[in-house]
Amino acid sequence: MAVVTIPAGVADPAPEQARAWCEQLEAGDILYFPETPVPLDADDTSFLLGQQQTDSSLHKNIAYKPNIDKLSGFDAKTASPAAVERLHGIMRKYSQTVTAFLTRFLSPYQANWQLDYASFRPQEEQGRDLPLRRRNDLLHTDAFPTRPTHGARILRFFNNIHPARTRDWVVSDPFAETVRQFAPKEIAPQPGSVLGRAGKAAARAVGLGAAIPSLKRSPYDDFMMRFHNFLKENPRWQAECAKYPFQFPAGSSWMVYTDTVPHAVLAGQYALEQTFLVRPQAMVRPEVSPLRVLEEIAQARLA
Ligand code: SIN
Ligand code: FE
Repeated sequence: MAVVTIPAGVADPAPEQARAWCEQLEAGDILYFPETPVPLDADDTSFLLGQQQTDSSLHKNIAYKPNIDKLSGFDAKTASPAAVERLHGIMRKYSQTVTAFLTRFLSPYQANWQLDYASFRPQEEQGRDLPLRRRNDLLHTDAFPTRPTHGARILRFFNNIHPARTRDWVVSDPFAETVRQFAPKEIAPQPGSVLGRAGKAAARAVGLGAAIPSLKRSPYDDFMMRFHNFLKENPRWQAECAKYPFQFPAGSSWMVYTDTVPHAVLAGQYALEQTFLVRPQAMVRPEVSPLRVLEEIAQARLA
């Protein structure tokens, strides 16, 4: 578990260097850019810093869906159409800029990813009052309830756009190490069904809860969703697991496979983020991916 600092001005790394960074990401390291390689215009930043979401329980973030160029999650009651249009334009540009940067920076992937949502996170993270499964101050690996990945990896790129404050994270040991603390062979999902009968019983026995059958999710997605909930709902693991705190300074960026690295945000305000779903074929070290780790435990194909 390491934070790898990327020197300023590296946009087109040599192929061996880019490959080494992909390997580090896949193994659970965080790539950290002390000075963001995707700076916003000053007036766009000022505009974003003027935004404050009113109802924290309704919307965690403002989301931008690049594939359909749609913005959601803003407070339609209070936002003026002009402000929404401005926000939309800023998010569109952010998404495009990050994508262009990573297409070159992570060249071994050859953009073999699906561009997922971008988000703007304008709320203070410290002391947010959210339902347990949506709390981000509890360590967790990411899984999306409505967007199964079928084994693709969740890569997230962040900008701390707060003018002064750090964004305070804690991370824990990567997926392979963490899951093996809990998952005996029996709880692994079964091939050909969301979770076999024996698997369901075993999952209940170890407290992972009953699986909710879903046609759209693969056994892999089903496991990852339950594992996200299981970690957040496990006070003993939350208290006892290894913890590595990192405070990302104002103006910095970082990226990490959030399905691999258990993470929590404890404090900070105003971040931008773009998510990529990187396809299994693109991995430079497939053997450490959550999919392969779980398939090894299950001795079966899961996606
Ligand atoms: C999360 O993905 O759990 C939250 C990360 C953040 O907003 O800093
Ligand atoms: Fe998360």
